[in-house]
Amino acid sequence: MIYPIVKFGDPVLEKAAETVTVFDDELRKLLDDMFESMYAAHGVGLAAPQIGISRRIAVIDITFKEDPNAKLVLINPEIIRTEGRHTQQEGCLSLPEFRENVTRPRVVTVRAQDAKGNWFEKTGEDLLARALQHETDHLNGKLYIAHISALKRDLIKRKVRKLIKQGEW
Ligand code: NI
Repeated sequence: MIYPIVKFGDPVLEKAAETVTVFDDELRKLLDDMFESMYAAHGVGLAAPQIGISRRIAVIDITFKEDPNAKLVLINPEIIRTEGRHTQQEGCLSLPEFRENVTRPRVVTVRAQDAKGNWFEKTGEDLLARALQHETDHLNGKLYIAHISALKRDLIKRKVRKLIKQGEW
């Protein structure tokens, strides 16, 4: 099932999601649906709040279907190590059409559970590191615009308000 993507302005995107404690078939179905929804939206990462589900679940595939081994499930993820700094353009399915330069650590290690509840650690560099941070942020109620200047953030918010008024958001 393909879920519609929740856009910026919906409060579900700005609250901390709930810890997952049950690892059952319902969760695995949701994970399949999240990958399907992410690909349908042409994204490389998707967090559950972005489909209106406030649970600490995210999926990532920075290769966009090219490498099946690149499919990554993150449940209850925490960033446990960071290194370096890197600035690159970043976007979000919940803020379509907008992109901004965001500076983040260049290498990060995340600790998370997989679909069966087993804990693992994963270290990523560059785009993967960015995705790990971006999706973990979502589960903490934080969007990438939290990392840009207040001036740029307010400009985006003003544009979104205008689009909402025009019925185009
Ligand atoms: Ni996002």
